[in-house]
Amino acid sequence: MSKKRVLVTGGLGFIGSHTVVALQNEGFEVVIIDNLSNSSLDVLGGIAQITGKTPEFENLDLREKEAVKNFFEKYPDVEDVIHFAASKAVGESVSNPLLYYENNISTLVYLLQELNKKEKSNFIFSSSCTVYGQADKLPIDEDAPVKPAESPYGNTKQIGEEIIRDTCKIASGLKAISLRYFNPIGAHPTAEIGELPLGTPQNLVPFITQTAIGKREQLSVFGDDYPTEDGTAIRDYIHVMDLAEAHVVALQRLIQGKERSNYEVFNLGTGTGNSVLEVIKSFEKVSERNLPYKITGRREGDVIAAYADTNKANDVLGWKAKRSLDDALKSAWKWQQEVSKKETEEN
Ligand code: WQD
Repeated sequence: MSKKRVLVTGGLGFIGSHTVVALQNEGFEVVIIDNLSNSSLDVLGGIAQITGKTPEFENLDLREKEAVKNFFEKYPDVEDVIHFAASKAVGESVSNPLLYYENNISTLVYLLQELNKKEKSNFIFSSSCTVYGQADKLPIDEDAPVKPAESPYGNTKQIGEEIIRDTCKIASGLKAISLRYFNPIGAHPTAEIGELPLGTPQNLVPFITQTAIGKREQLSVFGDDYPTEDGTAIRDYIHVMDLAEAHVVALQRLIQGKERSNYEVFNLGTGTGNSVLEVIKSFEKVSERNLPYKITGRREGDVIAAYADTNKANDVLGWKAKRSLDDALKSAWKWQQEVSKKETEEN
């Protein structure tokens, strides 16, 4: 029996595209909504190269309430949604908060309004460990207090979770899971899909790979005066394919009725923290390249350390990250080399 068609919003984005691959590998039929504001149609071809199946695709902007309504009229069978579509640059959200509140909140409301019309529906929400701010206790478990957001981006994740929680309370047919990602990095091992940051990368790993390939002069390490072993900040870097597979497990949990309540939250990390200097060292090992970097001041809003307590994800969700930091950096480097090769061919 072919599995039900799943809607993946933002399915041409970094984590979305890898999740589409993982869903197709599990036999799911997928339809993607993406407005191409932070992705490219080439990703559709990349997904098809990997799985041999081109997902259905609708170029829609979820900020248009009518377009969302029309989508569900066109696809009445869709009752399972994995929602990635959102703006996600922390710095940009500070300078343009209304863009973030409109794009990350109104779109969520319109999707839930449509799902609320159905007898039953399953909703997986892309959330972030950023909701914890600087946690008081490490590793961070799901009962850690949600702290006042340090950015409008982080606030939209907190508000989004509350909207879903409140809707699940009154909507008898809706079941939902919020997945709080730690730091997603890497790319599919085939290098057919990966992270495509527009402009100057804000995140560490794409900045590292662009520096190693010569696109950036040197990496700035934002602070080495943190109270950590080597003075640089610590994060939980999780391979994007591990993250993608966790979304399939979460959706199957709801489809098979294994949930313990109609709204659940899981942290998705490896449970291991690595400092910026440790990431650099690991990258130099897997790429066999020296990475030019300098130490600069701390970045506003950065926390000292964040890494996941993975017990709930392992024991309740039944998922565990399998890939190492080296695996992730190796795949990121292979992807960067592919991207740069294509750029050279095109110019
Ligand atoms: C990691 C570490 C930096 C760049 C953010 C969001 C989170 C998620 C992932 C969207 C930090 C240091 C970075 C650089 C550096 N985003 N760094 N030089 O800030 O932990 O998390 O991105 O879903 O929600 O909060 O990730 O990759 O930006 O930074 O030294 O050029 O690398 O200070 O310690 P972050 P990051």
